[in-house]
Amino acid sequence: MKSVASAPGKVILFGEHFVVYGVKAILCSIDKRITVTSKLADNNSIKIESSLGKIEANVDSITKLKDPSAVLMKPLIYIVTKTLEKFKKNVGVEIKIESEIPAGIGLGSSSACCVAAAASVTGLFEKLKREEILKFAIEAERTIFQNTSGADCSVCTYGGIMEYDKKNGFKKINSNIDLGLVIANSAQPHFTSELVNRVREFRENNEDLFVSLCEQESYLIQKALSALEDRDLHTLGKLMSENQSFLERIGVSTQKLAFLIEEAKKTAYGAKITGAGGGGCVIALTDKTNLNNTLTRLGKHVDCFSARIDYKGLLDTF
Ligand code: MEV
Repeated sequence: MKSVASAPGKVILFGEHFVVYGVKAILCSIDKRITVTSKLADNNSIKIESSLGKIEANVDSITKLKDPSAVLMKPLIYIVTKTLEKFKKNVGVEIKIESEIPAGIGLGSSSACCVAAAASVTGLFEKLKREEILKFAIEAERTIFQNTSGADCSVCTYGGIMEYDKKNGFKKINSNIDLGLVIANSAQPHFTSELVNRVREFRENNEDLFVSLCEQESYLIQKALSALEDRDLHTLGKLMSENQSFLERIGVSTQKLAFLIEEAKKTAYGAKITGAGGGGCVIALTDKTNLNNTLTRLGKHVDCFSARIDYKGLLDTF
């Protein structure tokens, strides 16, 4: 028996990092997916195959593996071992991950993978509700990133555009806005948990400034929600560029990211880092009038592609 599930990647339109401290963020999922296929195996071993590597070990010893691939695959190992425990099954499981989202560039590959794997592996035994999958995916992601706000897994599960805050969770935004997003990959590697730690240090050393930036970010997000409702791309773009200036203040931009953002702003409505920063991707807001110009402009410097909003979220087929 096979259980297949897929989940979309995401971009953060507004509010990354500040969301970790309770500020609202606005996110949307994109039309690039991760697909996880699971099947039961006769032996008692767990086999995981992905672009991060390949591991295979006995159910009882897999959590003790120390090689680098096993460390990166900790959330997946957690999902498989916890599922076998929950359903009291003494079997082996093989999982295969196929991704249209490059890993480690801020487009939610890790969250999408946790969501799709949680649905695919539990689907071998029972179809769980989306909220249960989301809870399990966040628990799995916490094995490598303790302080995640949960925003990324939420949008990868439910899809579409949403506002999210840690206290109230997510709320779908029913805007028919036709966003054209250009995503440019700086090719500078980054690790989300390190960047989140860096911002925590910044906050400890600049308490008043950080409080003021959180207030300004909250105010900006209220304006962005109105602009989304009014489908006002000009205002949204300006607000994205303004959000970028806050991200620069907290130290998560780089020279290359700042350069790409300035380039993008020559043709797009606005641009900013998306996700943790320190590398990874820049997003530029466009529509059909300036999408191609922006792609051409950024494409002279780095790899870039256009993305649209995914409205489906987690999909599973058993
Ligand atoms: C990473 O995609 C977004 C951060 O805000 C961390 C989080 O929300 O968990 C940097």
